[in-house]
Amino acid sequence: MTNSSQKDEFYPQGGLNTASYDLRADLDRQIFDDPIPFYTRLATSLAHENGVLELGCGTGRISAAIAKSGIPVEGLDLSPAMLDQARTKYPNLTWHLGNMCEFDLGRQFDLVIIPFRGLQEVTDADDQRRALERAFAHLKPGGAIALDLMDPDLRYCLPEGDPEFVELPLFPMPDGIGKPGSRLRITAMERTNDPLTQKFSEHWRFEEISEQGDAIRREDAWHHLRWVHRSEMRLMLEISGFVSMSEFSDFEGNPPKYASNQVWMAKRPD
Ligand SMILES: C[S@@+](CC[C@H](N)C(=O)[O-])C[C@H]1O[C@@H](n2cnc3c(N)ncnc32)[C@H](O)[C@@H]1O
Repeated sequence: MTNSSQKDEFYPQGGLNTASYDLRADLDRQIFDDPIPFYTRLATSLAHENGVLELGCGTGRISAAIAKSGIPVEGLDLSPAMLDQARTKYPNLTWHLGNMCEFDLGRQFDLVIIPFRGLQEVTDADDQRRALERAFAHLKPGGAIALDLMDPDLRYCLPEGDPEFVELPLFPMPDGIGKPGSRLRITAMERTNDPLTQKFSEHWRFEEISEQGDAIRREDAWHHLRWVHRSEMRLMLEISGFVSMSEFSDFEGNPPKYASNQVWMAKRPD
């Protein structure tokens, strides 16, 4: 069995995690709230000629859905491997390699979005605020920001972490990867927490399982994230200059709810 451990890069080039991202995101859409209709609806109503910027665009699935309505959209991501997927799948869109905490595209958009917990992958509180300030600077006056995060379930944020393993249903192997007939097993392993900084790290295991049921390739990766409390998020938006904040617990506009999603919208003043 080939075995590799990517402790520091969660989206490695050529890795099973990066290659299977869209499969997992699709499963997530089926089981939980689907972010795509929300962000496409917003883009249709708020984005005009200046278009949309997606920060932490990953493989480009949300930008691509928005672009289908003819709205100009650009994506920015820190991971070359994720951007490679976006460039291959959607070569006609504009993709930027960059850090959402310190980029300057030299232009302003009608709408900036940070979908699917992208801001939580920025694991430092000051950097999260810098990312919001960069988003603000890239908005036209009167433009809007929208983003979603996981509202922290405090049972899983304790210093002792969470040792429980959760195995996802077997996936088909992503196109072009693996032996014929093999499938992909993904297991969420233990989680460690640092309540002082609100950082947590999830250990993920990706395994190619042969037709005979043996693990023939294994990759381990750590997903580093930071949980953000609602009040903190509101203050970060305020400090970054945003006004007219709205907050929901899902993509249907339901009111805030503990341990659910945090869905935020705010405006750059006119
Ligand atoms: C959970 S994925 C979301 C991808 C995409 N928005 C979607 O909904 O499928 C988070 C993405 O944020 C990117 N990311 C993490 N930190 C970043 C940073 N500082 N600047 C830009 N992108 C970042 C990761 O590389 C990853 O592609």
